Amino acid sequence: MVPQYQTSSHSFDVNADNDIKPPKSEILYEGYLYDVTSFMSRHPGGNIIRFYAQPGEDATLAIQQFHYRSMNKILKILKTFPKRTFQPSENENGIKMRQASFNKNFNRVLLNILS
Ligand code: HEM
Repeated sequence: MVPQYQTSSHSFDVNADNDIKPPKSEILYEGYLYDVTSFMSRHPGGNIIRFYAQPGEDATLAIQQFHYRSMNKILKILKTFPKRTFQPSENENGIKMRQASFNKNFNRVLLNILS
C-alpha cells in the first residue's frame, strides 16, 4: 500500500522511490475520502468545494443539503472517484468542532430554501 503523509492543507502520496506526487484533494462523505482532485475545477457549484477538501472537514451534510434535489446524480458521480476509508484518528477533533457550528448554518440555509 502507498504510504500517505498529511500536511495542514493537503495529503501527499509517496511512491516506493520516495518521490512525492502532486497534492491530492479529498472530500469526506459518509466515512469515505473521495479523491476529487480532477473534479474540483469542474464542480458546477464553484469553489465552495475547495473549502470541504481541507483535512478536518466533513462534507457529508453539505453535499446532502446542497444537492438534495439531485442526490442520485451526485452519488453516481461520487462512485467514479477513487475512494479510501477515513480513519477517525485523522483530524477527528477538528471535524467535531467545526461540524457543530456548520450544521447550524446549513440548517438555517436549508430552512430558507424550503420556506
Ligand atoms: C464530490 C462532491 C460533489 C459533487 C460530485 C458535486 C456535484 C455537483 C453538481 C453535479 C452540481 C450541479 C447541480 C446539481 O446537479 O445538483 C453541483 C452544484 C452545487 N454544489 Fe456540488 N458537488 C459536490 C460537493 C459540493 C460541496 C461540498 C458543496 C458545499 C456546499 C457543494 C455545493 C454546491 C452548490 C452550492 C451548487 C449549486 C447548486 C445550484 O445551482 O442549485 N457541492 N454540485
